[in-house]
Amino acid sequence: MASRYNYLEKELNKLKRQNIYRTLKSVSIHGSTAIVNGKKAVHFCSNDYLGLSQNKQVLRKTIKQFRQISQCSSRLIAGNDPKIIQLEEQLSKHRGTESSLVFPTGYMANLGAITALADKNSTIFSDELNHASIIDACISSRAKIKVFRHNDTDCLERLMQNCVGKKIVITEGVFSIDGDISPLRKICNIAKNNNAITVVDDAHGDFILGSSDSFSGTTWHLGVNDLIDIHISSLSKALGCFGGYVATSRTIREIFINKSRHFIYTSALPQHLCMSALSSISLAKKGNLQKRLFSNIEMFSKGLKKIGFIISNSTTQIIPIMIRNDKLAAEFSDELLKNDVFAQPIRYPTVKKGSACLRISLTSLHKKNQLFHALNALEKTGKKYNII
Ligand SMILES: Cc1ncc(COP(=O)(O)O)c(C=O)c1O
Repeated sequence: MASRYNYLEKELNKLKRQNIYRTLKSVSIHGSTAIVNGKKAVHFCSNDYLGLSQNKQVLRKTIKQFRQISQCSSRLIAGNDPKIIQLEEQLSKHRGTESSLVFPTGYMANLGAITALADKNSTIFSDELNHASIIDACISSRAKIKVFRHNDTDCLERLMQNCVGKKIVITEGVFSIDGDISPLRKICNIAKNNNAITVVDDAHGDFILGSSDSFSGTTWHLGVNDLIDIHISSLSKALGCFGGYVATSRTIREIFINKSRHFIYTSALPQHLCMSALSSISLAKKGNLQKRLFSNIEMFSKGLKKIGFIISNSTTQIIPIMIRNDKLAAEFSDELLKNDVFAQPIRYPTVKKGSACLRISLTSLHKKNQLFHALNALEKTGKKYNII
C-alpha cells in the first residue's frame, strides 16, 4: 500500500539525483578549529568574522548579567527590557540613523521590514544575488518584483524607467556568497532620481568595513550613508551574537512597530543576547580584530589566485572558489575534509545552476599556519578534480 509519505520520499530521491540533497553534520567549534563528524579540521564555515562569539570578555559580561532565559513574550505585549533599548541606541549611533529596531534574527528583519513597506501597489527592484531572506520578503510582500543583474546599475536604471507607484530598491552591502561589494553610490543616485526608497542589507559588511574608528559598514566605507533609507543587518555575523536589526528614521521605525508581523507576533530577543551584542560592539570598534582579519584576507586570496582558483570579484572575508558543478562541489568539499579543511559547497538553489562554489569564510581567529595548510590542501584537491 502506498504510504502517505511516498511523494516526500520521491522528492528526496529527486534532490539526491540532482546532487543538491543536504545533510546535517555534527560540528563542535574550538577557536578556528572544528570537530566535524569526529574529525578535526580548520573551520571555514562560520560568519563569526571577528571571533567574538568565543571572546572571553563577551562571555564573562553576558554570564554576569544573565538573569532570565527569555522574556517569553513579544515586545508590544511584555514591553522592552532596558538592555534592548540600550542596544537599539548603540545600533542607531553605530549606523548613523535616527533610530533602530531589533528583530529576533536577520532573516526576520528582512521579512518584517520589506513586508511592512511594500504591498501589491509597490515595485521592488532586487539584485539577482540577494540573500534568500530578501527574496522571501519580496515574495511575501506581494509587490511586483523586478530583478536586476548583479551589481549592474545600467540594468537597474532600465528597469526603473517608466515605473509608476511606490518603488523600493534593495541590495546587499557585501554579498553573502560572492563577497563582492555593491556599487551603492550609483544605486542610490538611480533610486533618488526615481523617487525610490533604498534598502541595504549589510549583514556581511557591518562591523567589518567602514572608517577605522567606527566600522559602521559598507555604506560608510563607500561614503553613502546619508543616501540610504533603511539599513538591515544581522547580529550573528561580525558581532558573533544572535539577532537582527533595522536602522532607519523614526517614522519608518514606527511603521515597523505597527505593521511588521515578524516583529509584532514573536518573542523579543532575550536580554542576555542584547548584553552579548553590546559587549561585542565595544570590542568590534577597537579595530585590532579587523586588522587581523584583513591580513588573513590578503594572504589567503593572494594564495588562491596564485594557485589558479577563480574567486569571482571577492575583496572581503567571503571568498567563493568557483566550481560550477553541484556534484563536483560536494565531492570537492568531502575530499577537503579528509585533508582537515572544513568548507561547505554552495549549490542550487542557494546559487544559480552552474554557479556552485566552495564558500570560504575567513575570520580573525585563523592562524597563518592554518591558512598555509588550507592552501596546500586546496591545491592538492583542485589538481585532483581538475579545477586548476
Ligand atoms: C545577507 C544576509 N541577510 C540576512 C541573513 C540572515 O541573518 P540571520 O542569520 O541573523 O537570520 C543572512 C544570513 O546568512 C545573510 O547572509
